[in-house]
Amino acid sequence: MVVTRTPLIAGNWKMNLDHLQAIAFVQKLDWALKDAKHDFASVEVAVFPPFTDLRSVQTLVSADKIEFAYGAQDLSAHASGAYTGEISGAFLSALGCGYVLVGHSERRQYHGETDELIAAKVKAAIAHGLVPVICVGETAGDLEEHGASAVPVAQLEAALAGLPKGADIVVAYEPVWAIGSGQAATPEQAEQVALPLRAVVGRVLGDAAAAKTRILYGGSVGASNIAGFMREPNIDGALVGGASLKINDFSAIIRYQKHVGV
Ligand code: 13P
Repeated sequence: MVVTRTPLIAGNWKMNLDHLQAIAFVQKLDWALKDAKHDFASVEVAVFPPFTDLRSVQTLVSADKIEFAYGAQDLSAHASGAYTGEISGAFLSALGCGYVLVGHSERRQYHGETDELIAAKVKAAIAHGLVPVICVGETAGDLEEHGASAVPVAQLEAALAGLPKGADIVVAYEPVWAIGSGQAATPEQAEQVALPLRAVVGRVLGDAAAAKTRILYGGSVGASNIAGFMREPNIDGALVGGASLKINDFSAIIRYQKHVGV
């Protein structure tokens, strides 16, 4: 079975850019990609702005026929109710989000998100028609103690528990030690974890899902190292933090096929 997975380059803005800055940024990114005649069918692009930007991004994307996708950085495990400060997946769907990040290491670390909560959020995302981008990754301590793949594999198994065969997900492998450190994993290291992560998808969601699921690498991705990751057979894109906030860097990452060897 030959399955081609459309690469996905995603920008996680984290807590950066208010809604006015988001409008200017999305417009400039769109111009840069249109100027470069970027083919969105060959490399998909998605941005993950803060919640308060999403309505502005939706309005702009529909008015200007912008071809990139967008999503939120988190969602509630609940559909509605007395959960002060939480955002329902239903609200995100209503704003045109296609994706939502779930279980980013910064949420696991600073908000105490557990594997159980993350599994509930994954289910909530799917229930509301959103594709969850499930983030997994080991800390430097985990790496020393358990090797690279044990913790991400266990996190993914927990996140997928109870999902139906064939569920539509994206996996982001983000070693915590590589995030924001300037110290990316090597493509070989990332591939060595992506391979067992794909095996987990196969065990839980079935072979067809394993063949079509995109696995992204994240952690200090930039224009100079993206091509190496994209050459690995089990890496289908990137989840980019810092470099996704710079138009030139992010568009160069998106256009990695034109810059092989940069
Ligand atoms: P950096 O690209 O800034 O290392 O961040 C990666 C990340 O956490 C994306 O979700």
